[in-house]
Amino acid sequence: EKGGYDYFMLKEIAEQPKAVADTLLGRIDAEGRLRLDEVRIPDAVLREADKVVIIACGTAFHSGLIAKYAIEHWTRIPCEVELASEFRYRDPILGQRTLVIAISQSGETMDTLMALRHAREQGAKVLAICNTNGSTIPRESDAVLYTHAGPEVAVASTKAFLTQLVACYLVALYLGQVRGTKWGDEIHAVIRELARSADDVERVLETMEPVRALARSLAHKNTVLFLGRHVGYPVALEGALKLKELAYMHAEGFAAGELKHGPIALIEEDLPVVVVVPSPKGRSVLHDKIVSNIQEIRARGARTIVIAEEGDETVVPYADHLIRIPATPTLLQPLVSTVPLQVFACELATARGNEVDQPRNLAKSVTVE
Ligand code: F6R
Repeated sequence: EKGGYDYFMLKEIAEQPKAVADTLLGRIDAEGRLRLDEVRIPDAVLREADKVVIIACGTAFHSGLIAKYAIEHWTRIPCEVELASEFRYRDPILGQRTLVIAISQSGETMDTLMALRHAREQGAKVLAICNTNGSTIPRESDAVLYTHAGPEVAVASTKAFLTQLVACYLVALYLGQVRGTKWGDEIHAVIRELARSADDVERVLETMEPVRALARSLAHKNTVLFLGRHVGYPVALEGALKLKELAYMHAEGFAAGELKHGPIALIEEDLPVVVVVPSPKGRSVLHDKIVSNIQEIRARGARTIVIAEEGDETVVPYADHLIRIPATPTLLQPLVSTVPLQVFACELATARGNEVDQPRNLAKSVTVE
């Protein structure tokens, strides 16, 4: 049942190109326009929404953080992302024009379910993004967009995360399409790139051997830090979460711009720091800033592990280890930059002798608050 792999997690990492392609299937028409009729939220509701609120936990929360960048950019609707476990205990402001998006792989996470019930009681419309047909969260929502990752068995989420990203991009682009923002041409171009993203994920998977070797060489370390900016920041959080749950190592993700506000004090000789570098094109300001961050931490002894797009030569002199990913539109980069972090965590866990599919103290679906 593991299809020749030692662990379900390895199988599920390898299945990501198919999971991404399946989640896109039938949702982009021949003219390159999105078709989400199955979602069954009337376009009028989407047109009138004045706020989007995303609720989720853990890895699903990280996909929500990435969705915020996409939704605000392509639709100009303000978007908040909140941990489902915090949401209903603070009397959030919700109304009939609030579109709530609840993201959950299992569809059974109690924190997310309680948060969505609270949102509906306040009159908000709830759209679920979910991987499990007929589970509680989609049943209790106004509408659902299913991710087609197939069953995810390993406790640590991998392919479900990538498909959550795809679903979030689809919703963001669809909202943009329905509302007709000034980004019409860009939306069209990004849909075409999204349609090709499964191939990019495949290409990343083909180049992971050096990442595995690097992970094995770090098995004796106690701490790994992750830095990113813009959509690379939630990717850094996700990389750190994977490492905690699988390798039982101290790992933290930071927004690179926060370094000088505290975390840089943690940098010491030979501390591994993974840096997710934004695309050099389009967002060149951010790119330059992160390159100086890499120089700063390296000057203080950090061992830099740099994830950067193919063709980005500026990072080469400062990277102790360089992991290449295909160039993508800025907002889509997490689809490819997350994959090496999953492989990294999985290999480190194995090297440390941990049970990869069943990490200690964790359950696949958390049905208690
Ligand atoms: C991390 C992980 C958890 C889940 C979280 C939400 O690898 O698997 O953080 O993402 O418990 O679960 P769902 O998506 O089922 O609501």
